[in-house]
Amino acid sequence: MPGDKSISHRALMLAGMAIGRSRLLGLLEGEDVLCTAAAMRALGASVERRPDGEWWVEGVGVGGLAEPENFIDLGNSGTSARLLMGLLAGHPVTAFLSGDGSLRRRPMARAAEPLTRMGARIVSREGCRLPLAVIGAREPAAITYALPVPSAQVKSAVLLAGLNTPGRTTVIEREPTRDHSELMLRHFGADVRVISNDDDSIAVTIEGQPELRANGDLVIPGDPSSAAFPAVAALLLPGSDVTILNVGINPFRIGLFETLAEMGAGIEILGHRLAGAEPVADLRIRAAALKGVEVPASRAPSMIDEYPILAVAAAFATGRTVMRGLSELRVKESDRLTAIAEGLAACGVEVAIEGDDLIVEGKGEPPEGGALVNARLDHRIAMSFLVLGMAARRPVAIDDAETINTSFPGFTALMNGLGGGIA
Ligand code: S3P
Repeated sequence: MPGDKSISHRALMLAGMAIGRSRLLGLLEGEDVLCTAAAMRALGASVERRPDGEWWVEGVGVGGLAEPENFIDLGNSGTSARLLMGLLAGHPVTAFLSGDGSLRRRPMARAAEPLTRMGARIVSREGCRLPLAVIGAREPAAITYALPVPSAQVKSAVLLAGLNTPGRTTVIEREPTRDHSELMLRHFGADVRVISNDDDSIAVTIEGQPELRANGDLVIPGDPSSAAFPAVAALLLPGSDVTILNVGINPFRIGLFETLAEMGAGIEILGHRLAGAEPVADLRIRAAALKGVEVPASRAPSMIDEYPILAVAAAFATGRTVMRGLSELRVKESDRLTAIAEGLAACGVEVAIEGDDLIVEGKGEPPEGGALVNARLDHRIAMSFLVLGMAARRPVAIDDAETINTSFPGFTALMNGLGGGIA
């Protein structure tokens, strides 16, 4: 599996803030992460790809970011945009951020709002969309911020702003989200504490102005959100028996695998181990008959990027799958709720959106397929419908496969190596 996208962004950013040289092993070389690498270079860090695929980073130290000379292009990457807004907000520099057509449509107010409270100024287009300028705070102020939406990106933006802020910055989350930032901040020596409150919310606190130091090699696990595609393809194609090596199984990321198990998939988790602070394992998946299930809204943060491929699995299952509480899907790389529903309907699947819920009626047999699906500049929509096409009665075409490189370079070769027929 290619390296984890979320962890790769954080590795570059935090190694770029730490004193000393970090070696990053297994970094995802997808376009989103390359945007973060270029951004950290523009902010003064030394970021070098070695011929053997290792990445060596020497950071600037907390408080040491340089003002970039030009605007920073973040391509398709929401994680780069929101996390960098956080880093910049705590430094006295001005930076201009932009991105591709998909990223320029995505809401940045959710990150701008707490960062403004900390003293940064964000100047943007109508609706707080990119391009925007971050004018970092000269004297950033620590805050306690309750997340209005469950978002690891917003949580991370506030924690990263807290890095160069005197005192304690706290984020409170009602529903836990991926904790890669917390784990990696600790790896570099920051004091990050996580406390469960009486009302079941979680308080994450960073002590400001730590001395971040390079701390040996950083091994980046394979991305469970990428593993999702060969895993579901293996479940759907009769006779498959696929083992996916080195997949991150951070508990805040594995909602899809829990859901597939409830649907009747026998997924074996082998060789449980640690890659740095992150748990990893090998996953063995064999083709299985799936049944429809109800996926509670509370599970959404742990599988937020996996609904497109889950909906594909649901289209082959027997019975109804109800996926609840998906409002956040509307503000991803595309409006994924609409993209999934329209794509499935075009492939002959009975599907409905009711409020924020997605309902897929599976007939226990391969759907018709045979459609041209609009991938809407969204890598996960593109890959999901290619998987549907691998197992449907008739081939499926997508209008644009370019964006797959943002998260999963080598997707087509890997799937074809497993017997897929993607041309
Ligand atoms: C990410 C968090 C999620 C996810 C995105 C990566 C991260 O976004 O959808 O692909 O790396 O923190 P939100 O924080 O907007 O839910």
